Amino acid sequence: MSKIESPVPGYQQLTIEPYTPTIGAVVHDFDLSNLQDESARAELRKALAQYQVLFFRNQQLSPEAQIAVARVFGDPDKTKAFFPRHETQNTIEVLEVKPGGHRYGTDQWHTDITFDANPPTGTVLYSKIIPTVGGDTVWASGTAVYDSLPRALQLYLQELQATHSFEHSGWPAYFESLKDGDALYRQARHDHRPVVHPVIQTHPVTGKKIVYVNPNFTDRIKGLSRQESDALLSLLFARFQRPEFQARLRWEKDTVAIWDNRATVHYAVSDYGDQHRLLHRVTFGEDQAF
Ligand code: SIN
Repeated sequence: MSKIESPVPGYQQLTIEPYTPTIGAVVHDFDLSNLQDESARAELRKALAQYQVLFFRNQQLSPEAQIAVARVFGDPDKTKAFFPRHETQNTIEVLEVKPGGHRYGTDQWHTDITFDANPPTGTVLYSKIIPTVGGDTVWASGTAVYDSLPRALQLYLQELQATHSFEHSGWPAYFESLKDGDALYRQARHDHRPVVHPVIQTHPVTGKKIVYVNPNFTDRIKGLSRQESDALLSLLFARFQRPEFQARLRWEKDTVAIWDNRATVHYAVSDYGDQHRLLHRVTFGEDQAF
């Protein structure tokens, strides 16, 4: 990506280029290992709320520096996810797929950890090893999906609550494939009871309404029959698949993506065969989702 001529107005510290008309922005020529300036940090928070996912190329971040990036947006210290952890920094999850190795089931549309009462508000993902081709990540905007719905449906959805559960995802099958899988699965069920979230959330910074369901973890809409719930959820999930509401990142090594986990769903495209893919992930802000 080349440097742009005319940065968008409203930003003094950041050179921002919208990535699509709906979602995403590239932040050019910004060194995420240097976050001393509070006005730059404030602009990063503003840009994340406005664009929902931000991309930064050519970043050189130590594990500590990646955690410092997350800290700009929220407390990164109490992550809840299931992925393996970094050898020296427990806050960092290591998403590594080796040739022929296990894939983590992130090739489903999902919002991170909505099977918990307080999912993270966002995530910092940093690429270390990237396939020559393939392995993109796609984000879709829950605010764009909401705005696209008929007014009567928007109003109806605002009354509804949905149950989210990790058991709804493909993870139980993964547990079954492990040596101590039964015990791990029982423990996970004990630790993560199903939770209920409103189907429509309001973003605390932008005030925009968000369709807050995702195919990986949303099991059913409360108060509806299974048939009605499945039909309504199918309609909403189909909206997230519209390319108009999406941004698809082609990773390069040393790229950072930061997303607003309240306003988006994402999908890790699993099309890279036996190539190696390694990213470091930090989630932040899980005590203050909405
Ligand atoms: C994730 O779902 O958090 C990981 C996305 C990716 O690996 O691209």
